[in-house]
Amino acid sequence: MNPSLPIEKDLFSPLQLGATQLKNRIVMAPLTRCRADDNNVPTDMNRVYYQQRATAGLIITEGTQISPQGAGYPNTPGIYNQQQVNAWRQITDSVHAQGGHIFLQLWHVGRVSYPGIQPNDEPSLAPSAIKADGAYVQPRALENSEISDIIDEYKHAAENALAAGFDGVEVHAANGYLIDQFLRDGSNKRTDLYGGSYANRSRFLLKVLQVVTAVWGSDRVGIRLSPINKFNSMSDSNPEALFSYVVEQLTPLKLAYLHMVEGQIHDENFAESSSTFKPSSLRDLYQGTYMANLGYSKESANHAIKTGTAELVSFGDLFISNPDLPERFLHNTALNTTDLETRYGGTEKGYIDYPLLG
Ligand code: PHB
Repeated sequence: MNPSLPIEKDLFSPLQLGATQLKNRIVMAPLTRCRADDNNVPTDMNRVYYQQRATAGLIITEGTQISPQGAGYPNTPGIYNQQQVNAWRQITDSVHAQGGHIFLQLWHVGRVSYPGIQPNDEPSLAPSAIKADGAYVQPRALENSEISDIIDEYKHAAENALAAGFDGVEVHAANGYLIDQFLRDGSNKRTDLYGGSYANRSRFLLKVLQVVTAVWGSDRVGIRLSPINKFNSMSDSNPEALFSYVVEQLTPLKLAYLHMVEGQIHDENFAESSSTFKPSSLRDLYQGTYMANLGYSKESANHAIKTGTAELVSFGDLFISNPDLPERFLHNTALNTTDLETRYGGTEKGYIDYPLLG
């Protein structure tokens, strides 16, 4: 073999991801499954689910609220109290016992909630009092002083995640939840230091990253963005300029990775093509590890890694129905199809009973 020939990389090539050594580049994307208990504490069924998927190079947990106000759906797990920390510890121990790695996704839904979910039936919180379409109510615009309280909640949640034995955390800044509501001008009409210019709209995100990286070290913190995803009534007047600015601010932070939702979620066509701006192009602006997401197959993911358009690829739906996805990719085995009826909430059915190979 000619030693000067580069070794071709694929999904099965190991990767040093910040401080974590991954055995492959197949990442389990964060997936809301609404199966924590009624107190938002993870259960043993949740532990089995994650343990079954520990052959992924990295698991990113479902969105996990940093505070009771951060929840938008029933039975999503939290990371703000000791019971939750203890339950997550069982999960991280089980994943580690299988040789896997797991990051916790830190989540605050902002306006994507409703009084029935919020403590004392209060309105949800958002940068501006602009309602998301659907069954939501008009949120209350956050006071300046309340913004620092939420940043403290991120810090506390990050400390709890450390105590629960995770390998790192992902800051959820995508899909129309609180941080994304600050970033995009369809949901942020503030006239103070948190609204208006790109720098102002990015301020909340950058402050969150500051406190979270102070707890974890930047090489154990990832971030997720979704520049053109309209889910949760999101819009921006110039997503290319906004997210180019954001990504330029991220490079010097030397995070573990940038996780990009490259299109429109809950859409069969993952409609990146409907926008002239391609979020995947932000990869060229970002100096660091890039994780691509949305609608990838084994073939398109391998192509992305071989051509260097991504270092890692995350898979969502495929990991719901194929707990042993890396093995199936390796052996080119048929994939189980995902039952959407059992996606959110419910029992073991459609959660931990998808068949394994063999
Ligand atoms: C969803 O429940 O559909 C959902 C939750 C969190 C996300 C995206 C989608 O980031």
